[in-house]
Amino acid sequence: MSSPSASADIVRAPQHLAIVMDGNGRWAERRHRPRSFGHREGQKALRATLEYCLRRGIKALTLFAFSSENWRRPEEEVGALMQLFLKALDREVDELHGHGVRIEFIGDLSAFSPELQARMHKAMEKTRANTALLANVAVNYGGRWDIANAARLAAEAVARGEIEAASINENLLARWLALSGQPPVDLFIRTGGELRISNFLLWQLAYAELVFIDTLWPDVDAAVLDDCLNEFTRRERRFGQTSAQVVAGSGQGVA
Ligand code: IPE
Ligand code: IPE
Ligand code: MG
Repeated sequence: MSSPSASADIVRAPQHLAIVMDGNGRWAERRHRPRSFGHREGQKALRATLEYCLRRGIKALTLFAFSSENWRRPEEEVGALMQLFLKALDREVDELHGHGVRIEFIGDLSAFSPELQARMHKAMEKTRANTALLANVAVNYGGRWDIANAARLAAEAVARGEIEAASINENLLARWLALSGQPPVDLFIRTGGELRISNFLLWQLAYAELVFIDTLWPDVDAAVLDDCLNEFTRRERRFGQTSAQVVAGSGQGVA
């Protein structure tokens, strides 16, 4: 683990960080506590991560909080997570608003209770004009859903005569995808040791640097995030070009 002074090494910070916050259940099980205890502890790491991003001037943070597949968990765990989301929305939104954080929920929100949906919409409306940090929270989100949803919205625009089917290309389709208009995701972090994407941002991760760490989500703090950012700084991003081209300074990023 890095000492706090390691932060001085971070020269090229990512603009957009995406995190799969995994390992809450195992963190609790190791302590012989219910899995829901791990989810509650995970909120502390979430707060530390938001503070870290504000301090580092990171523009956007996208957090995987609940996947479209997580409904398959035992009813009791899903219920506990929903209660946690409700409480967190009540407790944290005002403070985040005070820090200039804009909150966006991405995913199919229609599956949540009307109460939860109303609070999510309220949080988004309240913080819409904030610019210090854009925090996207992915709930009932799946990368495949995101792409299919964009395709459906594009088809509807064709049916209304607003666009030609032949004009649909990568740039145009991206308009209807989650995170459209935001800086490209440049660093993906998955905690908890699993080496998979689990249907997170399939399209948006095309050229992100992937960092997988064993640390369980509730144990994540600024030092762990510093290590990830330092790892990002060490990567050479080539976007299809050769290393010599990148070194010569002609490297061009892609969104
Ligand atoms: C991630 O932690 C949080 C959610 C998926 C909601 P897990 O609950 O998946 O924790 P592990 O992977 O079982 O330890
Ligand atoms: C991914 O974690 C989803 C979230 C962190 C919200 P999972 O724990 O659900 O992923 P799998 O099931 O191990 O692939
Ligand atoms: Mg997990």
